[in-house]
Amino acid sequence: MISSGIQTAAYLFASILFILSLGGLSSQESAKRGVIYGIVGMAIAILSTVLGSGVNGHIYIIIALAIASVIGLIVARKVEMTSMPQLVAILHSFVGLAAVLVGFGSYLDPHTQELHGSEHTIHLVEVFIGVFIGAITFTGSIIAWGKLDGKIMSKALAYKGRHVVNIILMIIISVLGVMFVKAPETTGLMQLIIMTGIASFIGVMLVMAIGGADMPVVVSMLNSYSGWAAAAAGFMLGNDLLIVTGALVGSSGAILSIIMCEAMNRSFISVIFGGFGNTSNSTSKAMEGEVTSANHVEVSQMLKEAKSVVIVPGYGMAVAKAQYPIYDLVKRLQADGKEVRFGIHPVAGRLPGHMNVLLAEASVPYDIVLEMDEVNPDLPSTDLVMVIGANDIVNPAALEDEGSPIYGMPVIEVWNAKKVIVMKRSMAAGYAGIENPLFYKENTDMLYGDAKQSVDELIKNY
Ligand code: TAP
Repeated sequence: MISSGIQTAAYLFASILFILSLGGLSSQESAKRGVIYGIVGMAIAILSTVLGSGVNGHIYIIIALAIASVIGLIVARKVEMTSMPQLVAILHSFVGLAAVLVGFGSYLDPHTQELHGSEHTIHLVEVFIGVFIGAITFTGSIIAWGKLDGKIMSKALAYKGRHVVNIILMIIISVLGVMFVKAPETTGLMQLIIMTGIASFIGVMLVMAIGGADMPVVVSMLNSYSGWAAAAAGFMLGNDLLIVTGALVGSSGAILSIIMCEAMNRSFISVIFGGFGNTSNSTSKAMEGEVTSANHVEVSQMLKEAKSVVIVPGYGMAVAKAQYPIYDLVKRLQADGKEVRFGIHPVAGRLPGHMNVLLAEASVPYDIVLEMDEVNPDLPSTDLVMVIGANDIVNPAALEDEGSPIYGMPVIEVWNAKKVIVMKRSMAAGYAGIENPLFYKENTDMLYGDAKQSVDELIKNY
């Protein structure tokens, strides 16, 4: 058992480590350090909570921790990089569920009944809001997991009048909230259960209404919700550390969502109210021009002739695990005195920083990995762009076609380079499910095939 003074000091220390962890995660060079700060902070947080006064049944806690740690280890080792967003989504759902359970537990806890006056009212409001956010996070995250995993259709499910339905549901929840707070002892349980059901339904409908192209924002938005759910649980339990940690996650998730909305030129409010990824009403332009392709020998020759090369990776690079041979190819090109850089779109792949993580895994130095805004101005003077398994993030329709569902989203303007090679297996669409006029441009050639096999072939022929 530790004294409450030591516990407070430990909580403060853990909070500082969490802040340092977030700071570390903001750049690739310091990301590892950031993760270590996070792990140490979490270990201190768990230990100081479990050893604190008023905590009984340590044996059960140890058994639960051991089982959860084993499951966590197995899942983390097994999960493919491409399935990471699904894993993140399902983990958010656990936070939501935890907030709901803490809320019910806290309401039924006999200690709650000992509170009086405004203290009691405030506690009931905390319980109600905490369970509300938790239930939305829980079901919303499960739907996000299903959509990302392909178990639920990724198209936006938008029905007429859904905003009116949502407003009516919110009014009902407000009425239930007042009844709940006024109910004596634990007689408000029924209102709490009904509200949980309605909030769960809102969570489902909220994420169902968001279409494929807006999914990245949903993941970070749910990340934010899960933080607020944790903070709400902190209020219910009177645990300062949980409040601080939840607020950190909640606000950083919200900031990330806003940054991503800006990267996709979406209004944050429109995304969270759903339906903007819907492509059914769009009137995209018909494709003009002819698709031309090149073979591996021809592309190797182009590489030999090019002085400057920009590589734009996308989701297909992750699927093919092509980052390792790509870096081998880059080293060969650099050895021949060519300038080779990577251009990374903020929403390339399926999760924030997806491409950066893969390239770091293959030991690609950070100084040749440029962000979209850094690489775009250099493209007109670039001899050759290799688009590897990317599609939506290099789609000119985002700038040229007002009817396109991705119109307004900033993209890597690869077509401004002298020559573009697009490496993918077929003419199939990308995540947003739309055609790409880039493939029809005169200076673009397709190089069909699995990205890894194609890069291996290029190395052989170079
Ligand atoms: P996508 O537009 O999804 O295009 C990926 C392309 O890779 C596909 O067209 C596919 O064409 C090709 N491909 C798949 N497997 C391949 C393989 N083994 N070898 C070679 N090519 C392969 O990817 P993107 O350009 O990276 O854009 C990302 C999209 O995902 C955006 O719409 C974004 O909004 C969305 N999204 C992003 C995130 C985040 S946060 N990054 C999260 C969720 C959704 P073939 O089938 O013809 O090979």
